[in-house]
Amino acid sequence: MNIDTKNSSKLPNVKTTIFTTVGNLARKHKALDLSQGFPNFEADPNLISLVNNAMMEGHNQYAPMQGYFGLREVISEKIQTLHGHQYHPENELTITVGATQAIYTAISAFVHVGDEVIVLKPAYDCYEPAILVNGGKPVFLQLDAPDYSIDWEAFKAKITKKTKMLIINTPHNPSGKILSQNDMLWLQEILKDTNILVLSDEVYEHIVFDGQQHQSVSRFPDLAQRSFVCASFGKTFHVTGWKMGYCAAPKALMEEFRKVHQFAVFCVDHPVQRALAEYLKTPEHYLGLNDFYQRKRDLFLKGLAYSNFKFIPSQGTYFQLLDYTQITQESDEDFAKKLILEHKLASIPISSFNVNDRDDKVLRFCFAKKEETLERAVEILSSL
Ligand SMILES: Cc1ncc(COP(=O)(O)O)c(C=O)c1O
Repeated sequence: MNIDTKNSSKLPNVKTTIFTTVGNLARKHKALDLSQGFPNFEADPNLISLVNNAMMEGHNQYAPMQGYFGLREVISEKIQTLHGHQYHPENELTITVGATQAIYTAISAFVHVGDEVIVLKPAYDCYEPAILVNGGKPVFLQLDAPDYSIDWEAFKAKITKKTKMLIINTPHNPSGKILSQNDMLWLQEILKDTNILVLSDEVYEHIVFDGQQHQSVSRFPDLAQRSFVCASFGKTFHVTGWKMGYCAAPKALMEEFRKVHQFAVFCVDHPVQRALAEYLKTPEHYLGLNDFYQRKRDLFLKGLAYSNFKFIPSQGTYFQLLDYTQITQESDEDFAKKLILEHKLASIPISSFNVNDRDDKVLRFCFAKKEETLERAVEILSSL
């Protein structure tokens, strides 16, 4: 047998992700790791107890394909309360293996060979491969540092007869930018007379700072009717390892979504769904997250106020970008590597999120870390 995996690869240009490369280097050199997007503190023990209870109570077999109904019910109520839009728990919500599976499934269910999908760069890395595996064509709109605001006229120019979908992400990884109500109104207006679908990655929905409000697509009726909202409990409850999320979409879209979901995963972890259904009944468990992470952002940035890094404070997510052009003109990959090898601090170079690896000389730091970790990181960065 002689299988030519090179020529038959559906993703010939996909390499090991920057997260794996940096993570391995950080471990090898025992560096403080502010690269990957996960907390280095524990989740609420009450949530963990709820999972234990669910297992002891015998919820250890397959959950329903769409997800445990009690969890879908409480998600539906939460969205209704926060954004004033009702997703019916019966046929408009599906529990998924993290947001990643929700994103992959929505793309697989709707993107046909030759369809164009507009992706705003810098972008989280799971969108493009999902489009390519399904024979779609990613069409990129590069946003500019340091502000990363969307030029809606430039966006309009990317729309063609083949545009099937647009992917947005607010709050945005890696920039920490949030879309404003005006942005959403622009988008709604531009898409009004089209059949373009929107995939809205809202995994950081509960991490928004400075009194701003998360502008979910579900708040805008004409956007809601064409959108998939993808969310992640991993991000919200400090349990990224549980890989638990959901997708909300109008009935007709959700029906197609479920056709793919049913045969890709069928259903997801049952005891965790039971636990989340109970935990979500207390809104403080997610409404307190804005302040919790804002304190961490402020601690990190206060420490860097007199450093040689330039920055715009993150508006949401648990990431902060730092511009290092006052320190060196090295490429972001070289500088990130040097930080690990010589200063024992890991971060992510942003070029890997940009079109053609454009290098704006900024690094991304994750501040979902214990105070002492952030203080140590500040000490290192201030010495540069
Ligand atoms: C913007 C964005 N979308 C999706 C995901 C994936 O979420 P999950 O771990 O729930 O699959 C991440 C995780 O880092 C992310 O940053």
